[in-house]
Parts: sequence; structure tokens; C-alpha cells
Amino acid sequence: MSQIEDENIFSCEDPFELYRIWRKQASAVEINDPDAVALATVDENGLPNVRMVLLRIVEQDGFVFFTNYTSAKGIEIVRSGKVAFVSHWKSIRRQIRVRGLISKDETSLSEEYFNQRPLESRIGAWASKQSTVLDSKENLVKKIDKLRVTLGESPAKPAFWGGFRIKPIEIEFWNDGAYRIHDRFLWKRKCLNSEWTINRLSP
Ligand SMILES: Cc1cc2nc3c(=O)[nH]c(=O)nc-3n(C[C@H](O)[C@H](O)[C@H](O)COP(=O)(O)O)c2cc1C
Repeated sequence: MSQIEDENIFSCEDPFELYRIWRKQASAVEINDPDAVALATVDENGLPNVRMVLLRIVEQDGFVFFTNYTSAKGIEIVRSGKVAFVSHWKSIRRQIRVRGLISKDETSLSEEYFNQRPLESRIGAWASKQSTVLDSKENLVKKIDKLRVTLGESPAKPAFWGGFRIKPIEIEFWNDGAYRIHDRFLWKRKCLNSEWTINRLSP
């Protein structure tokens, strides 16, 4: 019997429960970095774009990461309202794929998260016009040095920085199997308040 069956996937009431179990197992063994996911967006021409982000918070029914809202991803996300991401935990040979809707965090979470970051990271967030062309690294370092003085010890969160919350409509759990006979379970719902359906997929 495969490990995925041992955990009795159908006994989990929702996929977030299973996500948490797998993430906990991955966190115990994955060195760098169990929270990292490849986040896919599309640009205005429908051309896909993918980059790593850290999925910092797993809520009851959502995944949150933090970024610069004016970055390429920020613009693409706001335009389409849709994303996909994939986690690959090599050490436990598992993959989780998510597709869903995404929106800016409008709660106090972004501020709380920003305030507990190291001061240098907070200053860095102010300094970097993420995804824009930088004339030189030297100028960025000078800008950081100036901001260190002007912002002081407790800079407020910039309005252009914060969380995005992903609400899944599909989550697929993939567990490595012998001779490529992997286990795949797809949780799917029509819209955010529909019931989940679960299907086993061919590997
Ligand atoms: C492991 C890893 C984690 C990352 N986490 C984040 C993150 O949480 N937020 C972020 O804005 N960028 C993060 N980055 C940088 C992004 O991959 C990317 O370079 C940056 O966000 C700009 O992407 P964009 O131009 O597509 O907006 C991370 C990179 C790596 C390699």
C-alpha cells in the first residue's frame, strides 16, 4: 500500500487538512525551503510567467504570500485574478498543484507580517522597485543607505507591498510511486462555496 493510502486521503474533510499534513512532513526534512512554490501568472498577451515565492501563511481556506504589488507578478495578478502554483518537496517525493482565484489581502495581516520582518528586509521592500530595470546595484545600495536614515527603526508598510491570497478551485496531491505508477488525487470545486469532489487521476 502506498503512503498516500496509509494517510487515508478520503478521511480528510478538506484539502487544506491534507496540505497541512504534507507540509508538516516536508518541513521536517526539506532544507530549503518547504514554503517555496513556483507561482504562474499570465501577461496581457496570455504568455505564461513563473517564479518562486514563499507561501508564508496557510489559512483555513486560502494561501498567502507577500510581494510588491507593482511588480510584474503584481500587475499580472490584478489583471487576471487567477493563478496557479506548484510545490515540489523533493525529499518526500511529493508535489502539490493549485489553481485558483487571487486577490490582494485587505486585512491587517500584511501590516502584521511586514512589522515582524527584519528591519533590513523592511527597508529593502521600500527600496526595491521590483521587476523594473535597475541602472546599477551601487545606486540601489545608496538608496538603501539613505532610507535606513529617513525611515528609522520602525518603517510603516509601504502601500505598494503586501499579501496576495489564493483561494483554490483545484488542488492536486501527487505522491511518487514505484515504476512511475504514481498516486494522484484531484480535489475540485465549481466555485469557492461549492463542495469539493475528489477523483483519483491516472499517473
Ligand atoms: C525560493 C525563492 C523564494 C522567493 N520568494 C519570494 C516572495 O515570497 N516574494 C517575492 O516577491 N519574491 C520572491 N522571490 C523572488 C521571485 O522569484 C521573483 O524574482 C520576484 O518576485 C520578481 O518576480 P516578478 O518580476 O515576476 O514579479 C523568491 C525567489 C526564490 C528563489
